[in-house]
Amino acid sequence: MMYSALKISTQKAEELALEHFNLKGKATALIGEIDLNFKIEINNTEGYILKISRPNEDCDYLDFQQQLLQYVSENDCHTVAPKVVMASNGKAIISFLDESGHIRQVRLLTWISGRIWSSVNPQLPELRYSLGEQCGKLTQALAGFDHEKAHRKFVWDIAQSDWTKEYLHLFEKEEKQIIHYFQNAFEQHQSSYEKLRKSVVHNDANDNNIIVSEDLLQPRVKATIDYGDAIYTQIINDVAITCAYAIMNHNDPLEAALPILKGYHKVFPLQEAELEHLYGAIAMRLAISVTKSAINKIEEPNNAYLQISEKPAWLLLKKWREISPDFAYFSFRGACGFTAHPNEEKFKNWATKQTFEVSNLFPSIQKNNIEKLDLSVGSTWVGHIKDMNNLDFFQFKIDQLQAQQPDKLIAGGYLEARSLYTSNAYDKIGNYGRESRTVHLGIDFWLPAKTPVHALFDGEVVVSVIDEGNKAYGGLIILKHHTATFDFYTLYGHLSEKSIAEKQVGQVLKKADCVGFLGNDKENGNWAPHLHFQMMLSLLDYKNDFPGVAYFNQIEVWKSVCPDPNSLFKSHILAENQQITNQEIIDYRKQYLGKGMSLQYKVPINIVRGSEQYLIDQFGRKYLDTVNNVAHVGHENYDVVKAGQAQMAVLNTNSRYLHENINLLAKELLETLPPELSVLHFVNSGSEANELAIRMATTFTGEKDVIASEVGYHGNTNMCVAISSYKFDGKGGSGVPEHTHIFALPDAFRGKYRGENTGELYAREVQEQIDVVHSNNKGVAAFIIEPIISCGGQIELPEGFLAKAYKAIRAAGGLCISDEVQVGCGRMGKTFWGFQLHNVIPDIISIGKPLGNGHPLAAVACTPEVAEKFANGMEFFNTFGGNPVSCAIGTAVLKTIKNEKLQEHALEVGNYLKDELSELAKDFSIIGDVRGQGLFLGIELVDANMGPLAAKTDYLANRMKDFGILMSTDGSDHNVLKIKPPMVFTKENADELLFYLRKVFGEDFMS
Ligand SMILES: Cc1ncc(COP(=O)(O)O)c(C=O)c1O
Repeated sequence: MMYSALKISTQKAEELALEHFNLKGKATALIGEIDLNFKIEINNTEGYILKISRPNEDCDYLDFQQQLLQYVSENDCHTVAPKVVMASNGKAIISFLDESGHIRQVRLLTWISGRIWSSVNPQLPELRYSLGEQCGKLTQALAGFDHEKAHRKFVWDIAQSDWTKEYLHLFEKEEKQIIHYFQNAFEQHQSSYEKLRKSVVHNDANDNNIIVSEDLLQPRVKATIDYGDAIYTQIINDVAITCAYAIMNHNDPLEAALPILKGYHKVFPLQEAELEHLYGAIAMRLAISVTKSAINKIEEPNNAYLQISEKPAWLLLKKWREISPDFAYFSFRGACGFTAHPNEEKFKNWATKQTFEVSNLFPSIQKNNIEKLDLSVGSTWVGHIKDMNNLDFFQFKIDQLQAQQPDKLIAGGYLEARSLYTSNAYDKIGNYGRESRTVHLGIDFWLPAKTPVHALFDGEVVVSVIDEGNKAYGGLIILKHHTATFDFYTLYGHLSEKSIAEKQVGQVLKKADCVGFLGNDKENGNWAPHLHFQMMLSLLDYKNDFPGVAYFNQIEVWKSVCPDPNSLFKSHILAENQQITNQEIIDYRKQYLGKGMSLQYKVPINIVRGSEQYLIDQFGRKYLDTVNNVAHVGHENYDVVKAGQAQMAVLNTNSRYLHENINLLAKELLETLPPELSVLHFVNSGSEANELAIRMATTFTGEKDVIASEVGYHGNTNMCVAISSYKFDGKGGSGVPEHTHIFALPDAFRGKYRGENTGELYAREVQEQIDVVHSNNKGVAAFIIEPIISCGGQIELPEGFLAKAYKAIRAAGGLCISDEVQVGCGRMGKTFWGFQLHNVIPDIISIGKPLGNGHPLAAVACTPEVAEKFANGMEFFNTFGGNPVSCAIGTAVLKTIKNEKLQEHALEVGNYLKDELSELAKDFSIIGDVRGQGLFLGIELVDANMGPLAAKTDYLANRMKDFGILMSTDGSDHNVLKIKPPMVFTKENADELLFYLRKVFGEDFMS
């Protein structure tokens, strides 16, 4: 039929609404529906949708849809679907003759306002949960409904999907294999699938049929629209369809499906038998979709709309094929509150009756007492990761422990999150950024190579292989065992090659037979000799391998599939769980630590280990750190750690004794400074450094008044707070103290003077404060400022400002202090110190954070004149400042910067990142400014009127954390993202950061 014969004008739609429904409104044709649907807008209502059928539409089919909607609205008190509006004649469907003389059917439904699912970004677990709830409510509301048309033949019904087999020839190679695999699997499970509960279901919760609320922070699903595909079929099919569409475009589709299922199950409980078919049903819906696309491509090659979901459907099908159907089934069970593995309870009951000694496993050892070894992420026994990866050292520590505990067997590790697995094979990019396999699924027994291992039960060898690769199993044997009601497996990892040569698949072992012998590091995957002993209730799809370590976010499933081997031995030492929860830590802090000590992030994280540019939580999740300029040369930099540990073991005392370390640190530091700044004092914190700097200035000048910048921060002591506008002008502050004089923040982007050539104007502001001091008949003691103002929002000082300000201050007799606590030690890239960017030489500089790489170490450098006058007879004593340990650490830090050329690295990576951030700013107009030097950058978010966007900045930092990237916000308006990572931050890290920034800037709340 010609398109013109279908067309209905908006005017006609308005007439129909008025004539038949007594509604006077404005009609707008809805796109994509060939002008058959119209939105009718009426003031003070949500509006309506007028649906006009094509000529010759099947009236029974329309009646089916109307009856269905009426049934839902009678049955359901929530708005889950549009409501049918009756015509003035009392009917749900009326008809009229169109201009071509065709009969057209008209229906009116209520409009549900909101956003279409496909336009919502991001689709977070809470939203997916609410999608599940919505679909569950709909199934519930449809219970008992039936109609003749619900029993039609329909290609989109998963139960009828066998029609796709006829079209298998449309596919080739991998795609053909995938479709064929799912079709076969579906066919094989037909008899149990047939028996599942059936009902009339919506059958098309695709991403254009779901309406989501307008709330951008906590969106929820409001309703499902378009009931044209409703059908009587297995209920699980509706869940499958909802999942199939909503999990497309997720890196980990199985994880993405679980909240949907949880939401659905909470409202409409699913049965275990139904869950068994969910994986296959999802696949078959996708198979229908790609088959339809392949047919459409032949029939209507130019209609791109018909192939819209083909690419994501294929992507998903390919990922879906990689997932073990059993693992998916167990995950679905877990999400619905069943034991993830169906035999978990049976195993537990059986295991309570078993009485084994560890010596049954190792009869040659004859020890049953356990010394539990803590290899968890934060374990101090593990210490530095580099040491742990040194086999000789690890073995030495094991031997030492064994010597201390000769009667005990060293063991442990079930469900322990470890960060020993540094190989990339343990990483993947999931739905929340990088994920690492960290949670250990078996018990490790640390015993010498060649120790024989014996079977605890009769069993059959099902795997006997050499699992090659660094940190793999090496020699691996898996035995299968039977009980009266279930089967299970035991896994023996890190055996010798000889053990594998001696055991063939199919071989039957009796209880107490020797399974094999522990391998040495050459044959056991490069580990200190030990047995990895694991139990499994399923082999999943593994043929020659089985994971011994799992992803933390799947742990509930894995611990059900791999029960605790200690359920056989019942050692109370192994059973002990000393892990403290985050909530317990928070609660203690709340009660016993000062309330002013804030925590970062809406959901705080428990960081237990640092490694280079990463911070790692107790579950082994690695966060890329873009914030910590304290861990300057990398978290737990090996040389720095070793320098501290070594000196700590020998001597740590105050600087009144002669010790070379303080001189060595002084020499390293002086190498980086201009000759004018040649005298050093060592202290313990940035605050102490500034405190001392101000004391020097007041001693030198005999004056008390200090000139400092608006929103400046210089530390937490009395004097430092008194010169920190960031504090005394901020929350809880009591305003500017008597001897402090604040000039306008020299911010050329959003400050009092904007744009280029503002250096002179801001320098005049400094002069004005000098004049104020003089007008009070006082003199200036000091001028203090950071070369890039950090807490103020990474504000770069305008060109020429600092030189002019210094000149004015000096003319007034004051001293110039550069606070280098944040910016110093090479971070600027172009220069080692921040003041060098401005071609000035201060009288005093304060050095803090980076100098100790996390150890409390700070310093003050000044001119000999200042030092001379400061030494007025009063002793300068500092209990900890300049102690041998701190100095050893500081020296190691400075040497590392030099040896690893970290200043040059900061310049290169920083410039790259800054350029790319500027590119990003072109695509996201809320990025008002990208600024900074080296690896000390800032991004300022503003609206079109230069208004600060604090909520968006905060949102961004929290979302970046969700993706495993730590960022922090600052600035007086809290609208600046600070980027100041450990200096070992790489270009690849910058790319990762940029990737996720782009992703989050694209989210709805950021627009
Ligand atoms: C610029 C600046 N100066 C001084 C300090 C104080 O250093 P600390 O916290 O080590 O006392 C800080 C701390 O953040 C700072 O950012």
